[in-house]
Amino acid sequence: MKTDRRQECHFEDFIAGGGEFDIFHKIAEIDAALWASPQACLDGLGVQLLGAATHSVEVKEADGQSHNVIMLGSNSYLSLTTHPAVVAASKRACDKYGYGMGAVSLYAGTTDLHRELEVLIAQLYETEDAIIFPCGYSANVGVISALCGPGDVVINDAANHASIFDGCRLSGAEIKVFLHRNMKHLEKVLKRLPASQMGRLIITDGVFSMDGDVPPLDRMVELAKEYDARLMIDDAHAVGVTGATGKGTAEQFGCVGKVDVTMGTLSKAPAAIGGYCAGSASLVRYLRYYARTYFFSTSLPAPVVAGLIEVFKLILADRAGRAELWNNITYMLKGLKELGFDTGDTASAIIPIIVGDEEKLARFHNELRRRGVFTNLVTYPAVRRKECRVRVSMMNTLTRDEMDVALNILAELGEKYGIIPAPANTAGLSDEPELLKANVG
Ligand SMILES: Cc1ncc(COP(=O)(O)O)c(C=O)c1O
Repeated sequence: MKTDRRQECHFEDFIAGGGEFDIFHKIAEIDAALWASPQACLDGLGVQLLGAATHSVEVKEADGQSHNVIMLGSNSYLSLTTHPAVVAASKRACDKYGYGMGAVSLYAGTTDLHRELEVLIAQLYETEDAIIFPCGYSANVGVISALCGPGDVVINDAANHASIFDGCRLSGAEIKVFLHRNMKHLEKVLKRLPASQMGRLIITDGVFSMDGDVPPLDRMVELAKEYDARLMIDDAHAVGVTGATGKGTAEQFGCVGKVDVTMGTLSKAPAAIGGYCAGSASLVRYLRYYARTYFFSTSLPAPVVAGLIEVFKLILADRAGRAELWNNITYMLKGLKELGFDTGDTASAIIPIIVGDEEKLARFHNELRRRGVFTNLVTYPAVRRKECRVRVSMMNTLTRDEMDVALNILAELGEKYGIIPAPANTAGLSDEPELLKANVG
């Protein structure tokens, strides 16, 4: 045994490598480490929901106890998971098409519904066409590995989603990274590329999944043009949420029609599962044959697609409840800031509460949930350990009462664990909403 990993209990210590041991050696080691670790570090992961992911839901803890929580940990920002029109369309499609597809898209896996959804997504982004994938992760992996290969270079924001980096690795292209949202650094990286380096792709999240902040897309469009690079955005957390009418990052930055490749997931505001890529008709045609996660993977079930068609109709008409979402984001963010929490630079439905100490984070996160406030615990490898955090995700159906209850519990526990200074001040939570202006048409 190399070191006594049980003392450390960091997930990265068990990642494969070396060839010194049987490949199952690390499995036994992590088992031992998990048994030895303090319960508080683990019991918040894998909690079971006993109902739909709405603003208030019953959950079952690892010890079998169940209780109600205020949901601040779902990416179903617009609560479309339970929207009556969405659910009704899905049920109708289940009766007509059955619950699964039984084939990949290019064989027997495409229905008229699949095509209708692709057309709606293209309409949203004002592109010629779109293609849907089994999930967002496979969309990123499939698109990037289809477009790039050895000899190409992909230039990534340091905080891009893991699936983007995995797509880059699979592609065999050279991977370069620029400092998070730092356009000076991006330009420096681009300037240093040899003139002979022709295949260039810049990729950014539209809303960063762990920070909730957004990239200066207008500047990225300029830089891509100036340095002959293609530009791709991952709009997973932006679609339906940001931009004056909810069309995402390009709309927010006045860049509609200026992004070469727009990828997104159907799992956040769209509330189901799936991924997509919108762009030119020829790009989409190419991806149907060369994105291996499309070609070799079974397509989305028709009932899911039928629900998503209703979702995109609501988003296109800006009738998906975005104004209510932004009211809630503004209220909660203001409340958290007034309490003294470090919420980073968020401009979306994702609000980080940076804690910076894993032990403290685990106890804070668990006690929050036990007291009825469900949040997400985020640490390495999703973020650097010294920036570990609780992630709050807002929903449009959260009530004022629920947000006030959550803020009071957050204040109490924030003080208890030394995350915010005492005494907390919760007065005046409903003043002038600043963020709202940027995202309301
Ligand atoms: C920015 C981003 N891209 C891609 C994905 C992957 O999407 P999916 O969960 O649909 O596979 C996620 C999250 O899960 C994400 O946050």
